[in-house]
Amino acid sequence: MNRLTLQWILRNGRYNRRMNCMKLKSFALGAMLFAMLPCTSCAQNHQRKEPDMKTKKTLVAFFSRTGENYAVGHIEKGNTHIVAEMIAAETGGDLYRIEPVTPYPDGYTECTEVAKRELAAKARPAIKGDAAVADYDVIFIGYPNWWGDMPMPVYTFIEKHDWQGKTVIPFCTHEGSGLSGTESKLKKVCRGATVSEGLAIRGATAQNAREQARKSVKNWLNKLK
Ligand SMILES: Cc1cc2nc3c(=O)[nH]c(=O)nc-3n(C[C@H](O)[C@H](O)[C@H](O)COP(=O)(O)O)c2cc1C
Repeated sequence: MNRLTLQWILRNGRYNRRMNCMKLKSFALGAMLFAMLPCTSCAQNHQRKEPDMKTKKTLVAFFSRTGENYAVGHIEKGNTHIVAEMIAAETGGDLYRIEPVTPYPDGYTECTEVAKRELAAKARPAIKGDAAVADYDVIFIGYPNWWGDMPMPVYTFIEKHDWQGKTVIPFCTHEGSGLSGTESKLKKVCRGATVSEGLAIRGATAQNAREQARKSVKNWLNKLK
């Protein structure tokens, strides 16, 4: 158990040519080619400036829980869900919500207990539906920090798919522990994928200070391009 998770438990009591010109003819040809060179490099530069995320097929897969939660009270839309929608709006990505077949308890404390048991047991709770990961180039994976890890249904989703050649971009919401090393966990489980630098946002910021959260999302996305 890491230090931040331990802090969470104590505090709560329970939590990125070559050119050759010998004759005039070939000199002229060479000169022509030379004249074209800046244009070619312009075109390449222009291509590099294209926002990658808009040209690639993007999925935003996330887990998020409604009900009673830490620092925000009873919520109708989960904190991570709010951030996932912001990312999808900015990137034009498709949204997929990772939902367990058996919902987590509505009460915060009860939920922490179930989540703790699942983490210890390395449980893989069944999830509803699926997303065609094979059809996407870039997959954002979003989750709340649960006990310094990802909720177990996120692993269920990941283990269903082949991640070879994909770009995985993590984001999480939390209340003090940040990403807690979940980027390294994703590198392990999404075998063959390139895992980019993740974003961590306070759940209460996502829920109650949405413009501030949107700004953080935009800044992070701009750095990824
Ligand atoms: C089961 C459970 C465990 C949690 N463990 C942690 C933790 O270890 N560190 C932390 O900073 N926040 C922890 N939290 C707080 C959540 O990460 C935070 O409230 C998050 O924004 C919830 O996202 P959601 O609304 O999308 O589910 C925990 C919350 C729950 C319900």
